[in-house]
Amino acid sequence: MKTDKKANPTIIVIFGGTGDLAKRKLIPAFYNLFIDGSMPEKFAIIGLGRTQLDDDAFRKKLYDGLNDFSRSGKPADDKWSTFNASISYFVSNIDDPAAYAELAKKLDGIDQQFGQRANRLFYMSVAPRFIEAVAVNLKQSGLAINADLDRIVIEKPFGHNTESAIALNKLLIDNFQEKQIYRIDHYLGKETVQNIIAFRFANALFEPVWNRNYIDSVQITVAEQVGVEERGGYYDSAGALKDMIQNHLLQLMCMIAMEPPVSFDAEELRNRKVDVLRAIQRLKPEEIHNNAVRGQYGQGWTEGKKVPGYREEPDVDPKSNTETFAAVKLNINNWRWQDVPFYLRTGKRMQDKNSSITIQFRPVPHSTFSQTQADSLSPNRLTINLQPQMDIRMRLIAKKPGLEMELHPAEMVFDYDSDKSSPEAYETLLLDAMLGDATLFMRSDQVEEAWKVITPIQEAWESRNSLDFPNYASGTWGPESAEALIARQGHTWAISAKAGK
Ligand code: BG6
Repeated sequence: MKTDKKANPTIIVIFGGTGDLAKRKLIPAFYNLFIDGSMPEKFAIIGLGRTQLDDDAFRKKLYDGLNDFSRSGKPADDKWSTFNASISYFVSNIDDPAAYAELAKKLDGIDQQFGQRANRLFYMSVAPRFIEAVAVNLKQSGLAINADLDRIVIEKPFGHNTESAIALNKLLIDNFQEKQIYRIDHYLGKETVQNIIAFRFANALFEPVWNRNYIDSVQITVAEQVGVEERGGYYDSAGALKDMIQNHLLQLMCMIAMEPPVSFDAEELRNRKVDVLRAIQRLKPEEIHNNAVRGQYGQGWTEGKKVPGYREEPDVDPKSNTETFAAVKLNINNWRWQDVPFYLRTGKRMQDKNSSITIQFRPVPHSTFSQTQADSLSPNRLTINLQPQMDIRMRLIAKKPGLEMELHPAEMVFDYDSDKSSPEAYETLLLDAMLGDATLFMRSDQVEEAWKVITPIQEAWESRNSLDFPNYASGTWGPESAEALIARQGHTWAISAKAGK
């Protein structure tokens, strides 16, 4: 990735510097931006944590992380030695105001070296319970006082229901200006996800048919093969609905369903997306059963290996009621989408890793062809494969070559996969945050509206334990009830055992 955009000199402060996110995602992203020439001319990265480490030990940890997780692999010695000279570690207790006074001295010292007041990017990669302490201390110490230069990046989970998300927004707004707050949803930084906007709004072809007159239904699947890995402690208090649907899947839904924005401007785009969230019909308690299903994986097989059930994973309650699979049917109450079901589905330990969006078009109004000519006159279908396959496929019906007029489905494919140098989501998002471009970040109202969609389902599930957990075997496409959910309106999952995937 090469971009002409360069941020002003920037100091990046990572709260949770010794954590997993810094090692797996943040440092590899900054490093790749650096080798691509996209980091600011002058920058410093400060990792904050309680662990006693010196700068060298901290750098070594990050170096190992780069080895394991960077898309560019093992760092070249010369690049690494230049890059790592900008990294330092700061032992601190984030509850302690004195630590912020010390940090202030350090930041002032760097400003002096840079010869100017640098931008400051404070990255909150900490458990939710620490956010208040960090926000209040940043404010009181005056470290993030310049609303034009100082930014706060905040990771999910952003609250755990509508009420807590509103409270968290209030806490942040009491301490910073909205334009300083960058709520990250890493799906929005994915190349293929950004391409949805280009695809929909830079082509005249789709808009005329992008509505209830031509579209029958939409499916969004984010299936993972992995289980909860080492995150059982966090995941057991979250679950698939909060971990994935409230943020990533609803954001994908917004991109498919939003009205054409007037410009590619942060506020405009976010306004159009929040319109979708507002228009999603809230499910009433008595409607949940027919419109939302949950699942939990049991033992099974993944890529030829026997894997444990969710309740046997480390740090998970052996009687856990947490869902590792969720599927919901949502309706959007507006002119464009009335009565078009949107099926959202996500799960861990599923048969394959697959994130895709399927736009199912309506059948032709009248069939010119006889049944024998057209065995399977399947209606047109547009599939946007987000990962790991990255392409867009249009299923058309075409004539089979030969003497007879016989029809069969054919696919037109736009392949994204050929470009292996695509930046990772975190690269795009961190660069945008350094540049002060909030287009791909969540605004407070988006987060709150998304919670309003999810909270009724969550409350219904929390109030009644699921009696059939675990209800799907690892390595399958989820519980039977998810098939029933989509079958109610005569649909089937495009990616499923039946569909041959
Ligand atoms: C995270 C979730 O937000 O997204 C994880 O907390 C999930 O549980 C991950 O595994 C999936 O992200 P990606 O980019 O691998 O699809």
